[in-house]
Amino acid sequence: MAQTDPILTTRQGHPVTNNQNQRTVGSRGPATLENYQFLEKISHFDRERIPERVVHARGFVAYGEFEATGMIGDEPASKYTRAKLFQEAGKKTDLAIRFSTVIGGRDSSEAARDPRGFAVKFYTEDGNWDLVGNNLSVFFIRDAIKFPDVIHSLKPDPITFRQEPNRILDFMGQTPESMHMLTHLFSPRGIPATYRHMEGFGVNTYKMVNAEGQTVLVKYHFHPRAGVASMTEAEAAKVQGQDLGHASKDLYEAIERGDFPQWDVYVQIMEDHEHPELDWDPLDDTKIWPEDQFPLREIGVMTLNRNVDDFHNENEQIAMGTGVLVDGLEFSDDKMLVGRTFSYSDTQRYRVGPNYLQLPVNQPKGRNGKVYTNQRGGLMSYGNDVHPEQNPHVNYEPSIHNGLHESPEPQPNEAPAVGGQVVQANLDRRNDYLHARGRYNTMMDWERDELINVLTGMLEQSERDVQERIVWHFFMIHDDYGQRIAKNIGLTVDDVKHLGPLAVQDFTEEEKQRLANLG
Ligand code: HEM
Repeated sequence: MAQTDPILTTRQGHPVTNNQNQRTVGSRGPATLENYQFLEKISHFDRERIPERVVHARGFVAYGEFEATGMIGDEPASKYTRAKLFQEAGKKTDLAIRFSTVIGGRDSSEAARDPRGFAVKFYTEDGNWDLVGNNLSVFFIRDAIKFPDVIHSLKPDPITFRQEPNRILDFMGQTPESMHMLTHLFSPRGIPATYRHMEGFGVNTYKMVNAEGQTVLVKYHFHPRAGVASMTEAEAAKVQGQDLGHASKDLYEAIERGDFPQWDVYVQIMEDHEHPELDWDPLDDTKIWPEDQFPLREIGVMTLNRNVDDFHNENEQIAMGTGVLVDGLEFSDDKMLVGRTFSYSDTQRYRVGPNYLQLPVNQPKGRNGKVYTNQRGGLMSYGNDVHPEQNPHVNYEPSIHNGLHESPEPQPNEAPAVGGQVVQANLDRRNDYLHARGRYNTMMDWERDELINVLTGMLEQSERDVQERIVWHFFMIHDDYGQRIAKNIGLTVDDVKHLGPLAVQDFTEEEKQRLANLG
């Protein structure tokens, strides 16, 4: 062994002289309990895993940067937002992105039919901004209270531990707002070819705020320069027969060889009010904002150029959430967004620990990477948040003894006026079939054929009452959709027309007509 070879040590800094054998009484044992080196090694190993994410357990992180155009479309970015990262052309902001699948466990297939997570952490000069999105533009539900139910229906059966089509379609059949997402997910878009070949969407409606405090509603879009590519069920079966991690491998290798993936980043903007002229609600994440009415406006480009050094530290422990915004960006009242905002940091305090924000991957890099808080202690607390010029005895605020004080920066914002009765109610403008119909109409023939085949396969594994309800919804979306699926599973419109709407619905004229035709 050369003198300069690095020496193995314990975590206490003691050199390890024998890593092959425990301390035992004689070479055949028994082992001794004061065997510190062995106990440290094995007990750390026993704790190597942290709980996997309850959703999006399998994922892969890469680093990169966002370069702003300084514009929002053809107008200066400052017209809509004062967020610093967007203001100047060419301004670069470091970021981490985590791509993921939703339903499977940590080692599950990356070729599964599943939405893909597209979660970006921007390390801005004003602190972190997390945009936790997906590759599909809409979601199954519009109220966070239904999230545990939709996820339970998609996760394995609690007894057989198999993902059961009958459970998925039972839930979706009782959840008409899921029809749009379902039509995306069971089309080829539900299996992106790789992480480099998929779009990203913020999905929920956010706000931007300008220096005057004026707000607009906003949706975020990422378009891959590599183009969008998807897999059919047969192609995916082949890929996952050989490799459960093809998408991570593809991304890792592209970055290693310097083929840096890029996405053009756009926003859609809407004035900040209820938009009574629309027959859907701008705060409804089961709807898209049609691009002919709300055009895509370019704001910058995202480039990924660096891989992680350590999967556990940077992938398992990265923590993102919808509550993490910077000045100039705001929440809307989107009922999913508000519910999500509680859930992310709640799960991260459990999954990673109460001091998860002290870990390097989660620390803000702006303000020279420093945070100054009066938070102290907690499991695995590391370092401290004391300002060099602060009185270290003062970990409370306010104080006249040189503690931390509030930021003097004025942060004007048009404060929304909120009023009304406290209720538990759905949105009024539901229109659950409209955008599913639009999606069905605009698919290419092969995509539609694949959608029909995949759904047929799932319905064949479902019970008759579930089949009927799903087919009823498909007829409400589109005659062709209903007829093709019904025929494949031996049903006709006559078998389902007795069902009627699930609940009192505010149907549009077209839907009333469809209902009348069904009946
Ligand atoms: C991860 C909750 C809806 C995208 C998670 C996690 C939870 C969660 C608990 C695990 C986070 C962690 O352990 O770090 C919810 C709730 C939702 C919701 C309660 C609805 C109310 C959505 C929607 C999207 C989305 C609509 C897409 C826009 C993601 C992504 C991740 C994630 C991408 C993975 C983040 C990462 O890579 O670390 N969600 N979610 N979720 N969620 Fe949601």
